[in-house]
Amino acid sequence: MKPSSREPIHGQWSSRWAFVLAATGSAVGLGNIWKFPYITGENGGGAFVLVYLVCISLIGIPIMMAEILLGRRGRRSPINTMRHLAQEEGRHGAWRYLGWLGILAGVLILSYYSVIAGWALAYLVRTGSGVFTGLTADGVNNIFYSLVADPERLLAWHTLFLTMTMVVVARGVRSGLEQAVRYLMPLLLVLLLVLVGYAMNTGAFQQALGFLFYPDFSKLSPNSVLIAMGHAFFTLSLGMGAIMVYGSYLPRHVSITHATLIIATADTLVALLAGMAIFPIVFANGLAPGAGPGLIFQTLPIAFGRMPGGEFFGAVFFVLLIFAAWTSAISLIEPLVAYMVENLRMTRVRATALAGGVAWFLGLGTIFSFNIWSGDRYKLWGLTFFDLLDYLTVNIMLPLGGLLIVIFTVWVMRRESVMSELGVKDGPLFRIWYLVSRYVTPVAVLLIFLHAIGVLQPLLNP
Ligand code: TRP
Repeated sequence: MKPSSREPIHGQWSSRWAFVLAATGSAVGLGNIWKFPYITGENGGGAFVLVYLVCISLIGIPIMMAEILLGRRGRRSPINTMRHLAQEEGRHGAWRYLGWLGILAGVLILSYYSVIAGWALAYLVRTGSGVFTGLTADGVNNIFYSLVADPERLLAWHTLFLTMTMVVVARGVRSGLEQAVRYLMPLLLVLLLVLVGYAMNTGAFQQALGFLFYPDFSKLSPNSVLIAMGHAFFTLSLGMGAIMVYGSYLPRHVSITHATLIIATADTLVALLAGMAIFPIVFANGLAPGAGPGLIFQTLPIAFGRMPGGEFFGAVFFVLLIFAAWTSAISLIEPLVAYMVENLRMTRVRATALAGGVAWFLGLGTIFSFNIWSGDRYKLWGLTFFDLLDYLTVNIMLPLGGLLIVIFTVWVMRRESVMSELGVKDGPLFRIWYLVSRYVTPVAVLLIFLHAIGVLQPLLNP
């Protein structure tokens, strides 16, 4: 069957830009602005950033192409896409469990993603009302701790954010999303530049650049390498079917390669700018780079409290951050909702309510991780429920999903199917991608897994 004869069941994007914008909206989110700076701080800076960039290029980009390709060829929710493509290639139906793995990861991630996005909502109110004006780093710290110490407030914000997400998903992902991403993403970029401009005048800009870009490999543990790789998946929304679902709405004539490069570049740019805005504030105020998940909430308000027009810039910044988180959160449950609509004959509204309800409930565990369950009694291997959930989903489930996606594409599918879906001839570019995807990407993911569990240790330090 010729691929171009197949039409998607859930409709299509109106143009190439619509897809690129939606996928960028999914990719750019809390991962770039909240998570990238704090894990970079926790893992020692430069060397970690370098590994992360290598992972984006050699693992993230090839897998993103594979994931979009599978989505467009399958034209269904990830589970049905995998089942269908495996059948088409004459392979085992067990490949559909890959879809299940992704759906599970998506709901688990959404459960804590929404709690953190709730912090941003809370901060919008605080910045807009001028709470931070003139505060010291200590004062800003206290505000953060009093927020996370209060489970009821966290629950209220988590509920609000999840409801916002569910409203969009229930109405169908495509309406409105395109327009919003088109205008708000560039604005987010401008605001980050304003913050970087402020950071240049803190007196610690040089030091921050050194921290971010001068690699000191003695600070890089095997676990840091795993975290850098996990983050490459997380920040590009890979390995769980989100990009696959978006790809399933992609028209035939669009170049997957171009789209991937644009998305990955925009995503990386936002993360690096966020780092360049935050670390100068960290160093200028004598804060700890490894402060953890509260890092941006403990640093940016200092800047907003001091710069002229800080209340305004601060409020706009948090609006954009919430927006970025929103367009990402949507893609975390879209695969599950698409599946329920296809296979269980549910309406979108009911499917969304069910999926969102599960994520809401699981979110309680993350909320309690910062207060009533923060004591050692509630920790496993020194990790809170939130830490464990984050580690399991991002560092294990996403890379595993991505590994299987790329293996399916370049080892299981016929080469001709892949070429015809990419719409390319057997040129040098295709060969490079195919070669990297067959050997470099899967081997790199496996080696990083093995390295993290210590298997490679005796080989590296004989
Ligand atoms: N990429 C988003 C961020 O950086 C988070 C996200 C959205 C995601 N959809 C995803 C992560 C799917 C993994 C899989 O904030």
